[in-house]
Amino acid sequence: MTQPKSILLVTADPERMPSLRRSLALLQPVRTLCLAEPLSLDGVGQDEAAGHAMVPDGDIAAIVSLVAPRGEGRIRQLRSAFEPFRLQHTPILCLIAAPTQRDEVQARALGAAAVLGADSSCRDLAAALRPWLRDAGGSSNTGATSAAAADVGLAIADMLAAAMQGSCITMQAVVEASDIMLEAIAEDGIHAWLRLVSNVDDRTYRHCMTVSGLVAAFALALGFSHTDCDRLTRAALMHDIGKGTIALEILNKAAPLDAQELAIMRGHASVGHDLLVAQGAHDAQHEAMTLDVVRHHHETLDGMGYPDGLAGGAISDPVRIVAICDVFTTLIGCRPSQSGLAGHDAFRIMQEMQGKLDTHLLALFSRVFDRAPPWPPP
Ligand SMILES: [Fe+2]
Ligand SMILES: [Fe+2]
Repeated sequence: MTQPKSILLVTADPERMPSLRRSLALLQPVRTLCLAEPLSLDGVGQDEAAGHAMVPDGDIAAIVSLVAPRGEGRIRQLRSAFEPFRLQHTPILCLIAAPTQRDEVQARALGAAAVLGADSSCRDLAAALRPWLRDAGGSSNTGATSAAAADVGLAIADMLAAAMQGSCITMQAVVEASDIMLEAIAEDGIHAWLRLVSNVDDRTYRHCMTVSGLVAAFALALGFSHTDCDRLTRAALMHDIGKGTIALEILNKAAPLDAQELAIMRGHASVGHDLLVAQGAHDAQHEAMTLDVVRHHHETLDGMGYPDGLAGGAISDPVRIVAICDVFTTLIGCRPSQSGLAGHDAFRIMQEMQGKLDTHLLALFSRVFDRAPPWPPP
């Protein structure tokens, strides 16, 4: 099977690279070329050689440059980095912070096919890149569910980025993502969804896509009305929005978290809730169900959860449903073939979590997904 071509991310800012890389990886594999600070004109040749040696030009579907074409040294460096791709007509998208007309002219002179602001949303980047990826035979367009998974991932990426930057969360994108996901799962089933999501590299995106997919499939299987499926799926999509404010080093840490990191991690439920309230979430834009799920999805029926230690009847049904899907996702580890538990082992552990989860809903969940086990066989 031929490997899909990659997106080449060219940057001079290693700090920005991880966040952009994790979003672009939702569309296509990403390779990176990090330019050093421009050397004196005498030393430019050294940088050029390093850039050329790193990337086989035929493997690249599109280039995304996060380097402002400003200053003679930098422009030479970029020209040199792009040169190997000129004959292939590899399309270049330049992202420039507050681009001036002069920047745009310079970027076009370097071969850029499009110029966008560096703060563009992931969805806008995807819209610019997709025609090029399709032309390159990329994997981003291999079926409706595949495109739907990428769209939902991009909406989650934008939502978490907005949480990190303290900017407004666009509910329209969440509403669209929920519609897209419900339609894809109703059409192709939860298996197809989870198979695609298991390929998402970023742990947080993968988790949010898995939990919300399970919630959507559960709601559909229980025969909820279209409106209720929609509201519940939206709430599930946003349930971990507070994680957008947590550093990637903590979110992606493989070793157990220390006490301070654990406190930060556990804070995501109240942080996410407060962030939505601060945006005017008490009005119709963020409905009460979403606020409830975001704040309380780590509460347990025995009152030992967080952040408010709610117990029993104080925990609503939507929260109970999302909590079951959340625990299940954590137990199966999103990538069962690697380290998580098999579905039936996860069910068994959840049934033994005395007094934590809603037993009636858990029985329904087990029945729905025992008939159609959520994870495809390895
Ligand atoms: Fe959470
Ligand atoms: Fe979660």
